[in-house]
Amino acid sequence: MKLLVLGATGQTGQFLVRQALQQSHVVTAVVRTPSKLTIHHDNLKVVEANIFSADSLMEHFNEQDVVMSCLGFPISILSRITGYTESMKAIVASMRLAKVNRIIAMTSWYTQTESAQKASWMVRWLLIPMIRSILNNMYEMENYLNEECEDLDWTTVRPPELKTAPETDKEILTYDGYFVPDQDGIPITNSVTRGDVARFMLSQLNVDLWVKKSVAMVTK
Ligand SMILES: NC(=O)c1ccc[n+]([C@@H]2O[C@H](COP(=O)([O-])OP(=O)(O)OC[C@H]3O[C@@H](n4cnc5c(N)ncnc54)[C@H](OP(=O)(O)O)[C@@H]3O)[C@@H](O)[C@H]2O)c1
Repeated sequence: MKLLVLGATGQTGQFLVRQALQQSHVVTAVVRTPSKLTIHHDNLKVVEANIFSADSLMEHFNEQDVVMSCLGFPISILSRITGYTESMKAIVASMRLAKVNRIIAMTSWYTQTESAQKASWMVRWLLIPMIRSILNNMYEMENYLNEECEDLDWTTVRPPELKTAPETDKEILTYDGYFVPDQDGIPITNSVTRGDVARFMLSQLNVDLWVKKSVAMVTK
């Protein structure tokens, strides 16, 4: 397939690009600093564009089969995070113009505020308050896709805490919710490797199960 990857220079994005190339996909990595992507491959094209501008993105979307996003934006104490929604609006406009129908994008567990009530004390009262502004904008992006992008086959993939390590052969557990619960409804406390998030995202290329849905995932 022809995949357009956003956030390809990031920690998860690089695992995704490598695995996509290993699976013989043809990858266009849309980045802001091409020199940051150190992967070289005949099936990899690296282009520079502004993720917040459909005018800038548009030309790279022609003839792509699927858009995959591992974009992430840093915590800001002084201002609201808007990167997820602002970039997604430009991405969606470009998809519509280029008639690309499928997008798989990363968000996180606990994007909805109330969903963390059963999380551990540490997660609920220390971690989440630190990243709440990021989670809020991810939640807005998920709602934008759900409410305003019925014409597109979107999936948002919600992982828990990420570790920088390659893919494993562990079983991937999924759940239609804001986290993956155990049999008592308590969030499973495992983290997941960035390689396994990339593995799961790529596994969705030929699967309709999570189309027009957000899916929480973790490894067993
Ligand atoms: N950390 C966790 O435990 C955790 C858990 C669940 C979900 N997540 C989410 O998972 C996603 C991926 O995480 P990650 O750690 O792999 O991300 P990351 O390493 O921080 O990579 C972020 C990517 O977004 C790109 N980006 C950021 N701002 C940009 C801009 N203005 N223009 C163009 N590109 C821009 C970066 O490009 P540059 O390389 O040019 O900066 C980079 O490629 C993020 O949304 C993160 O919040 C994280």
